[in-house]
Amino acid sequence: MKGLILSGGKGTRLYPLTYTRAKQLIPVANEPVLFRVIRAIRDAGISEIGVVTGDTDAEIRAAVGDGSRWGVRVTFIPQESPAGLAHAVKISQDYLGEDRFVMFLGDNVIEGGISTLIEQFAHSEWNSQIVLTRVPDPQHFGVAELNEDGSIKQLIEKPSDPQSDLALVGIYMFDASVFDAVSGIEPSRRGELEITDAIQWLVTHGYGVRAYVHRGWWIDTGKPLDMLSANAHVLDEMNPGVDASAEVASDSEVGRRVTLQPGVQIRNSTVRGPSIIGKNTIIENAYVGPYTSIYHDCVLTNCEIEHSIVLEGSQISGVSTRIVDSMIGRNAEVGRTLRKPKALKMNLGDYSNFWLP
Ligand code: G1P
Repeated sequence: MKGLILSGGKGTRLYPLTYTRAKQLIPVANEPVLFRVIRAIRDAGISEIGVVTGDTDAEIRAAVGDGSRWGVRVTFIPQESPAGLAHAVKISQDYLGEDRFVMFLGDNVIEGGISTLIEQFAHSEWNSQIVLTRVPDPQHFGVAELNEDGSIKQLIEKPSDPQSDLALVGIYMFDASVFDAVSGIEPSRRGELEITDAIQWLVTHGYGVRAYVHRGWWIDTGKPLDMLSANAHVLDEMNPGVDASAEVASDSEVGRRVTLQPGVQIRNSTVRGPSIIGKNTIIENAYVGPYTSIYHDCVLTNCEIEHSIVLEGSQISGVSTRIVDSMIGRNAEVGRTLRKPKALKMNLGDYSNFWLP
């Protein structure tokens, strides 16, 4: 069995962070979402993974490398235009050949344990397996209507009047019959070849498609709040660990569910878990609360932060109001100036948000 990860797209809803970084490379609990997807596929016993890339091809290649870090072999498949998930399958046919494969959207984060499901499909008779989960807003997803016996009645991409709350999660399993399906469908209203339509094609033409209903959490990390909740879920699942080279001064308090990566320094501070502090980051006279990920090489002094993500190389100092529900990009500075006028001063990127309490 092979893996196929879709890692294109512009990530417009995550501007400004995605102006300068592929959305799949934004870290959750200090690990890019794409790397988590690679590990989940590897853990299902798959060692050949194709990664479909778009505009951010160079950046994705540089970050992923040849896959040897995870013990897998990665092949990059550039998609010239974002013409849909089924189009991505189409252009990957040479790579996939006759093998069964699992396709993952590179920006989806799902509760652990999905690897067993993928392994089961490898040895099954099904032509395809889809993963569904209940959502409050099905109109934003591919939606499945099931019969009483759990078989699939109908699949519709982003219906205006959804007949169920079962959304298609961004994990799909196929055999080579999917290539007939992706050639048999027409572009949708949004001008894309939809994978949902390809799966409906399989159902209509009598192929065996199994629907599995996932009961844990799943997040499509499209928007900043989704990133924060994915971060919270992953931190909750994490086995915490304090690296031997991390230094915690005796005047500081570090909770049980805190992960400290190599070279972290904590002085006169309180860090509560679940949270993670990245390599060589310094926390001084500060409070880091639950559900916070601070990436590597940051400096936080005289500030309080919780339920937030801070990317590498950023500095936060002297902010007296607690920072919550925030995403702070790379090499950002949040601080205080003594120079008059006494006013808010900012240098925000395009599409940034700044909220006063
Ligand atoms: C895509 C699929 C949709 C699926 C969703 C999961 O939507 O088309 O069926 O439910 O991923 O994340 P898109 O993110 O392209 O809008």
